[in-house]
Amino acid sequence: MRSLLLLAVLAARALAARPFLNEPDTGLNPFLFGQNATDECPVPSTPQSQGGAEGCLPDINIAKGLPDYEAIARKCLPARNYTYYRNGAAGEYTYRRNLAIFHQYTFRPRILVDISKIESTLSTTILGYNFSAPFYISPCAQAGMAHPNAEINFVKSAAKENILYMPALFATRTIEEIAEAKAEGQVLFQQLYLSATNDTETEELIRRTEKAGAKAIVFTVDSAADGNRHRAARYDVGSADSSYSAFTWEYYVKLTTMTKLPIILKGVMSFADVQLAIKYKVAGIILSNHGARQLDGAPTSLEVAIEIHQKDPEIFKKMDILADGGVRYGTDVLKLLALGVKAVGVGRPFMFANIFGQEGVEQLIRQLKKEIALDAANLGCPDLREINDNFVDWNPKQCVD
Ligand SMILES: Cc1cc2nc3c(=O)[nH]c(=O)nc-3n(C[C@H](O)[C@H](O)[C@H](O)COP(=O)(O)O)c2cc1C
Ligand SMILES: *[C@@H]1O[C@H](CO)[C@@H](O)[C@H](O)[C@H]1NC(C)=O
Ligand SMILES: *[C@@H]1O[C@H](CO)[C@@H](O)[C@H](O)[C@H]1NC(C)=O
Ligand SMILES: *[C@@H]1O[C@H](CO)[C@@H](O)[C@H](O)[C@H]1NC(C)=O
Ligand SMILES: *[C@@H]1O[C@H](CO)[C@@H](O)[C@H](O)[C@H]1NC(C)=O
Repeated sequence: MRSLLLLAVLAARALAARPFLNEPDTGLNPFLFGQNATDECPVPSTPQSQGGAEGCLPDINIAKGLPDYEAIARKCLPARNYTYYRNGAAGEYTYRRNLAIFHQYTFRPRILVDISKIESTLSTTILGYNFSAPFYISPCAQAGMAHPNAEINFVKSAAKENILYMPALFATRTIEEIAEAKAEGQVLFQQLYLSATNDTETEELIRRTEKAGAKAIVFTVDSAADGNRHRAARYDVGSADSSYSAFTWEYYVKLTTMTKLPIILKGVMSFADVQLAIKYKVAGIILSNHGARQLDGAPTSLEVAIEIHQKDPEIFKKMDILADGGVRYGTDVLKLLALGVKAVGVGRPFMFANIFGQEGVEQLIRQLKKEIALDAANLGCPDLREINDNFVDWNPKQCVD
């Protein structure tokens, strides 16, 4: 009887809705909030910083992985600044899904494989340009909300670590200021929002992008309308674009006549549109739901990549397919690469790491490179460029918390 009761209690506990944790408990909070704080219960009275991040920042070395930068930013940034970065659309179901989806798929690790050379196999090409790792800094607006040097920290860190950076049009710094900070030969892809109704404006923007030396245009196509951003609206930091757009595939064709730069379509979320992108000979696409900031209920990029892989895996060889959303660990990167994704974008973690300036951004890049190498090694993958679908069990399993 007692054991039955115990079982019932345990079952009830397992079924009870667990509050969403921004970051899993990996023991960070005592470092942020004092020895008695746990990650389940950081000291509740600790107010969000009212002034600047200065004086609040802990030693940068306590950040051991990507999620740590968010916890630190939440403590140290003004609530409004933190909310702008953190926000997702509506009930943030897709925001949570972006993070959770990776853990529904387990690896099929192999043993007794010589993986000693793994670190020398991280490099990749994106649209034919060489980079040291298969991840890049996603275009996110307003880096100035975390650091006075804003996007300059991204462009310099990307150069130092030889990864790709895609500056956002709605950056704190201008296209020209960011280009000015480039290292010799550094490759940037410029993200743009365009006007469907004013070609003069579009022409001007494209000419500026070309003049700044960008090697590709990243045309964001997943924001046809304003996002319903409840969290952001409370702090008056909603989306930047409030019009209903009139873009079509015909417009895309017109755009290709306005510039010689390759155009990457950012925000593809269905197999049907992947097929159209092939039909229209698009240079590359980014599977993305815009960090879950637009359509709550949009699929995650991992799910779309799985669908492409099931229906026509050859598509991954026909154009460069990139993906972003919720990537927080080396293992997340591996799962996308295993399907044929060329490189993976990271957004929020970079915005939060920027609270430490260039040093934080560089540290994050080095940490993710190291995680990818260690994870690929433990997976028994000797050459990251040869990772393939056999390394993952693609039957979704319930997450364990
Ligand atoms: C604060 C913030 C601002 C963003 N601004 C833009 C933008 O201006 N243009 C764009 O194409 N995507 C933008 N994004 C989406 C990112 O490029 C990327 O798709 C997303 O952040 C990836 O998800 P992650 O943050 O979980 O890594 C933004 C995302 C965030 C978090
Ligand atoms: C931490 O908890 C211990 C034991 O409950 C208590 O004696 C101590 O004062 C607490 N420290 C702080 C900083 O709250
Ligand atoms: C918060 O954002 C504002 C711009 O909206 C910026 O001026 C301020 O410096 C930011 N605060 C911090 C601590 O970075
Ligand atoms: C990329 O690297 C390869 C091999 O190291 C080299 O042959 C090629 O020229 C490089 N491409 C560019 C665009 O630098
Ligand atoms: C179109 O854009 C140009 C350049 O930004 C601007 O001067 C012009 O007023 C715009 N036209 C309309 C109809 O908004």
